[in-house]
Formats: sequence, C-alpha cells, structure tokens
Amino acid sequence: MLQLIDLTKKYGDFTAVDNISLKVEDGEVFGLLGPNGAGKSTTVSMISTVLQPTQGEIIVNGKSLRQNPIDCKKVMGIVPQDLALYQSLSAKDNLEFFGSLYGLYGKELKNRVDEVLDIIQLTDKRDQDVCEFSGGMKRRVNIGAALMNNPKLLILDEPTVGIDPQSRNHILETVRRLNKEKGMTVIYTSHYMEEVEFLCKRVAIVDHGKLMALGTKEELKENLNACDTLTVSFNKASSAALSKINDLQGVEKTTLENNTISMLVSPTKRNVIDIVDDLKNLGIKLTSFRYDEVNLESIFLQMTGKSLRE
Ligand SMILES: Nc1ncnc2c1ncn2[C@@H]1O[C@H](COP(=O)(O)OP(=O)(O)O)[C@@H](O)[C@H]1O
Ligand SMILES: [Mg+2]
Repeated sequence: MLQLIDLTKKYGDFTAVDNISLKVEDGEVFGLLGPNGAGKSTTVSMISTVLQPTQGEIIVNGKSLRQNPIDCKKVMGIVPQDLALYQSLSAKDNLEFFGSLYGLYGKELKNRVDEVLDIIQLTDKRDQDVCEFSGGMKRRVNIGAALMNNPKLLILDEPTVGIDPQSRNHILETVRRLNKEKGMTVIYTSHYMEEVEFLCKRVAIVDHGKLMALGTKEELKENLNACDTLTVSFNKASSAALSKINDLQGVEKTTLENNTISMLVSPTKRNVIDIVDDLKNLGIKLTSFRYDEVNLESIFLQMTGKSLRE
C-alpha cells in the first residue's frame, strides 16, 4: 500500500529524515513510533506532498507519488498533526467543504457527510460551530475530513496529543473499527508507545530521522535480545549475596535501591523462576516479586538509552 525508499529530508545541513525505507502492507495498522523531533511529521508531510523529499521515493498503491500525485492522493486520507479546520463553520459544513475538495457534490456529498459524522460520532453536534468544540471533538472532525474521500490508506499524525481521555479512546476505537470493518490500511504516528502497542501489529521505531527498528513487537524483542524486567524486594540480604546477583545466568543488568533489586532478564537465556530460585539460594529473603514483560517503551529505552517521552 505504501513504500518508502531511501526517503530523506534535509533542512540545510540538518537531516530531519535520514534514508528511511519501509513497506506498509494492505490492510495493516502500522505504527510509526518515535520521540518528539524524530522526523515523524516530516515523513508524513512528504507523503502528503506538503514537503518535497530531498532524496528518495514514495510509492502509494503501486504508483510513484512524484509521477502520479493526483492518483496517489485519491487513495489517501491524511490527518495532520496541526488542526486544519474552519473554526466558524459547523462540523457538517467543514466536512462538506473537504468533501467538495475531493470532487463530491449533491446527494453523494450529503450522504458521505452523514456517514462520516456517524463514524466520528458527532451526528448530534453536526450544526454546532467547530470553535465551540473541545480539543478532542475538533480532532475528530479533522479525522472526519480525511475520511471524506473514503481512503484506502489513512495516515494519522499524533492524533491524541493534548486531548481528553474519552476522545482519545474514541479515536483509538475508530481506527480499529475502520481497519477491521472496512479493511482500511492505517499508519498511526505517535510517541505514546501504549497506543501503538494497542493498535499496531508492526512498528517502525524512528529516532533522529533514522529507522532504528522495524517489525512486530515479538520480532523487535528477539532481534534486539531485549530484556524483561524482574523486580524483587527483600528484607534481608548479605552484601556478599548482593554482589553476586550481577553474575547470575540470564541477568544482564541490576540496579539496587534500598531493599529493591531491579534486574534486566534475558527471557531467551533463562527462565525467570530459576533466577528467583538462585536468589533464594544466595540467602536473599524475598518479600515481593514482579515481572514485567518488555514493552515498546523499554525496547526503545534499551535501544537508545533514553525514554520516548523525554
Ligand atoms: N522547517 C524546518 N526547518 C528546520 N528544521 C525543521 C523544520 N521542521 C522540522 N524541523 C526539525 O526536524 C526534526 C524533525 O521534526 P518533526 O518531523 O516535526 O519530528 P516529530 O514529528 O517526530 O516530532 C526536528 O528536529 C525539527 O526541529
Ligand atoms: Mg510531529
């Protein structure tokens, strides 16, 4: 559905998007995950033809975006990070306006507006001016605008930043539904790993414009030999015992704070139960135990040494 080939964008000497190549298959919800400044919006802007790539190629539905921009745009709906709405128009009038840009008119346009209002669940607020809407409702109208041409590929750029939890859940559910019921391919851009983890099977992790990792969560975990985290608390342990924890088989790294030990554990090398046994055998009396399977946030942390939200 979408292919990026060596995609690069430079602003003067600064490279915002650095040689990114990836493929998004038909019918998938694909996550583009990266911290602020990673180059996500720049990538989306090149796909929406707002920005020209410095280098590289974008293929949409089998066609070169550079050579066939009109055909490519027909199959895409793009929800930019910044709202693009007419504040003094109603939700319905905004959607009508965007629909007319896609060449819809008359009955077809009216029907599509009704359908889209239903998808974004704003039918009851259709005649209210957008300036009276909450941030989350405005965001939903923005998504509605991108849906007016019934796109095969929907690209959302950080659609849940700064909005209320209810609208956020609504947006996540809508994306799921569009994919499941209409088979829409979705690219979901975010720096919230839990959203990407919830929605997307495959993920590209970007940082400083570079593609750092690409694959399913399981693939990323395996390729990076990413670690799960075992956290134990104890009420008694000798310093000799504590000094040996680092050397336990399967334990990659430990942090000791007061009476709590946090261990990065490689699940492919050792079963966690065996590590707990080792701790007991060292004479460490455990009072609590917690095991956190690796998530995208910790994969990112282990890969770059920094948190996604910094
Ligand atoms: N017009 C511009 N001129 C110069 N640098 C820019 C411009 N737009 C974005 N950048 C820089 O490019 C990098 C990537 O930005 P952006 O694509 O907005 O990241 P993200 O969407 O992942 O937060 C950032 O370091 C940003 O400061
Ligand atoms: Mg951005």
